[in-house]
Amino acid sequence: MPLVSMRQLLDEAAKGGYGVGAFNVNDMEQIQAIMGAAKETKSPVIIQASRGARQFAQDKYLFHLILAAAELNPEIPIAMHQDHGNSFETCKSAIDLGYTSVMMDGSLKEDGKTPASFEENVAVTKRVVDFAHERGVTVEGEIGVLGGVEDGHGAGGTGLEHVTDPDQAVEFAELTGVDALAIAIGTSHGAYKFSKKPDGSVLKMDVLIAIHKRLPNTHLVMHGSSSVPKDLQDVINQYGGKLKETWGVPVEEIQLGIRNGVRKINVDTDNRLAMTGAIRKVLWETPEKFDPRDYMKPAREAMQKVVAQRMTQFGQAGHAGDYQAVSIVEIAKGYKSGALSTQPLVAAK
Ligand code: 13P
Repeated sequence: MPLVSMRQLLDEAAKGGYGVGAFNVNDMEQIQAIMGAAKETKSPVIIQASRGARQFAQDKYLFHLILAAAELNPEIPIAMHQDHGNSFETCKSAIDLGYTSVMMDGSLKEDGKTPASFEENVAVTKRVVDFAHERGVTVEGEIGVLGGVEDGHGAGGTGLEHVTDPDQAVEFAELTGVDALAIAIGTSHGAYKFSKKPDGSVLKMDVLIAIHKRLPNTHLVMHGSSSVPKDLQDVINQYGGKLKETWGVPVEEIQLGIRNGVRKINVDTDNRLAMTGAIRKVLWETPEKFDPRDYMKPAREAMQKVVAQRMTQFGQAGHAGDYQAVSIVEIAKGYKSGALSTQPLVAAK
C-alpha cells in the first residue's frame, strides 16, 4: 500500500473507536521493529520522525527506509508523520520530501523552547494547514504546552504548567482547521514524567473529557504517552544502568482517553528503554562480543514486543485490512471541495 494520509487513518480509527500508536524512529531497526509488530498484530500505524531524527539519520535515509517498509508490507496502512515541527519551513520540508502528515507545534516559538502566544500559534498553524491541505497532507496542531524535553524540543517543566484550556482548544480548532489536536493534560516527554503513579489529580483526564465533549469530531492526540514500565527500567538497571525510579502514563488512562476522542498516541521512550535494556544485557553478559548484530537483533525484538503490546492495548490491532489507501491527490480534492471539512463540530458547553 502506498503511504496513507494520517487523516484517513484517524478517520478510520474514529469509526472503529480505537486509537493508533505513533512511534518515533531514528534508524532501520526501529522501523523494522514497528513493521514487525504491525504485521504480527495486523495494525495500521503512524511512523513519526522528529527534527532530531531527521538530522540524525539524514532525511533521505529515513524517508527511503519508511518507503521500503511500505513496499514490503503492502497490506499495512502507514502514515509518515513529522513530529513537532517548529516552523512553517520544517513542515514544508517534510511535505516536499513526501511525508503524508505533519505536526506544527506552534505552542512553542521557533526555538522549540519558549511558549508562544495563542495568536502566534494560530497564525503559524493556519499557514501550515493551508499549504498542507492543498497537497492532501494532514496537520496536527498543539494547544497548551507539554512538559519535558525530547530531542532538544520542549519547554521543560512538569507538564502541569500549561494545561490546555477547553475554550481555547475550541477556538484554536475553529481558527486553524487542523485535522488533529494535541492537548496538554499533564504529560511530559521522556522517562521522568511522574515521581509516583499518577492519579486523577495529576493527569488531567477531566480536561481531556471536557475538550472531547466540546469537539466531538476532532481527533485528539496524547503526547508523552509512554508508560515507562518498571520491568523495562529494571533490565537497564540490572545491567549497569542508572535510571532513577519513575512512572509514566498508565495504559488504563490512555484507554480512557481513547474512549473520549483520543485517536493518536505518541510513544517513544518505552521503545528507547526496551532497546537500551536489550543492548545492555548482551554487552554485560557477553563482553567479548563486538558484532553490532549481536545486540541490535535482540534490541529490535525487544522493541517489537513493546510496540505489539501497545497496538493491542490501543485497539488498532486487527484493523489493517479494513480499508484501502485513498491517494493524497484525492484527499487534497476532498479538502478543496469541503468533503473533508476541517471546521470542527462544536458542541454547546
Ligand atoms: P514519550 O517520551 O512519553 O514516549 O513521548 C513521545 C512523544 O510524545 C513524541 O512526540
